[in-house]
Amino acid sequence: MAKPKVFATHSLFDAARQILQETCEVEYWAKPERPPREEVLRRVKDKEGLICLLTEKINEDLLSAAPNLRIAANVAVGFDNIDVAACTKRSVIASNTPGVLDETTADFAWTLLMAVARRLSEGEALARSGNWKNWDLDQLVGTDVWGKTLGIVGFGRIGRAVARRASGFQMRIIYTDAVRASEAVEKELKAEFRDLNALLAESDFISVHVPLLPETRGLLDTPKFHRMKPTAFLINTSRGPVVNEAALVAALEAGKIAGAGLDVYEKEPFIHPGLKRANVVLAPHMASASLETRTKMACIAAENVVAVFTGRRPPNILNPEVLKTS
Ligand code: DGY
Repeated sequence: MAKPKVFATHSLFDAARQILQETCEVEYWAKPERPPREEVLRRVKDKEGLICLLTEKINEDLLSAAPNLRIAANVAVGFDNIDVAACTKRSVIASNTPGVLDETTADFAWTLLMAVARRLSEGEALARSGNWKNWDLDQLVGTDVWGKTLGIVGFGRIGRAVARRASGFQMRIIYTDAVRASEAVEKELKAEFRDLNALLAESDFISVHVPLLPETRGLLDTPKFHRMKPTAFLINTSRGPVVNEAALVAALEAGKIAGAGLDVYEKEPFIHPGLKRANVVLAPHMASASLETRTKMACIAAENVVAVFTGRRPPNILNPEVLKTS
């Protein structure tokens, strides 16, 4: 029997390819650059499965070009690139990769936090430049992290993983979320609930961990920056559009906040020139980029696809209502 045809917009990792090989006939996009949109639309025409990255928009346009499609498996936990309602309307399963990248992403939020507080980018540039003349008492003095107040916006798996790491730094932890955590979780993580405005006013470091939804788009805007301490730092490893970038640049320029550590941007891969400042540490959307974690993400996407074609429920289905109608 012919195997179902799948298009993967990346060559993935060997471990994921092995999961797929027995069940599916997979066409891999093997070039180093991301596939142009027309190429994706052309290649999905005869496919029943699609494995995609967050750089591909899975919308009406793509779905209508792929009449045989049964699953779009995102290799990411965030799925704001997928129009899930449009998938559901066409009975296409959408899936993501939750759970495996929480600790790695939390590590990286801390990497940015430490780097911006302790001016690592500036120090590294000086060390490499050949212009470092001598040790000096006030050279590259940054801000202490230990003992400060960490405000976590979005207290899901990643936000909590960030909180767990803070106790080693003797920090006070406050958090905000649409849903308050249970007493047991608050007690375990020594985290106190605040509304967003109170959190912004009290925190020395604010780390953002909300998904991109209509209600979180532009969540941090000019009035919010004005509530923050002028000594506070913003860390964002969630999604760029959660922060109004023009407002952030204006806040940095006006000294309304002390700095930022950013992994995500409003219009990736474009980075607002106003963010290229000494008090901002910039990374190219790499918070989950450890080989172990990215391999697990690819394997989970592969498992979701194989589940569909072997008659099982995909473990990470985003629109289970599709299963009821098929
Ligand atoms: C995700 O998974 O949503 C990240 O942004 C990439 O790991």
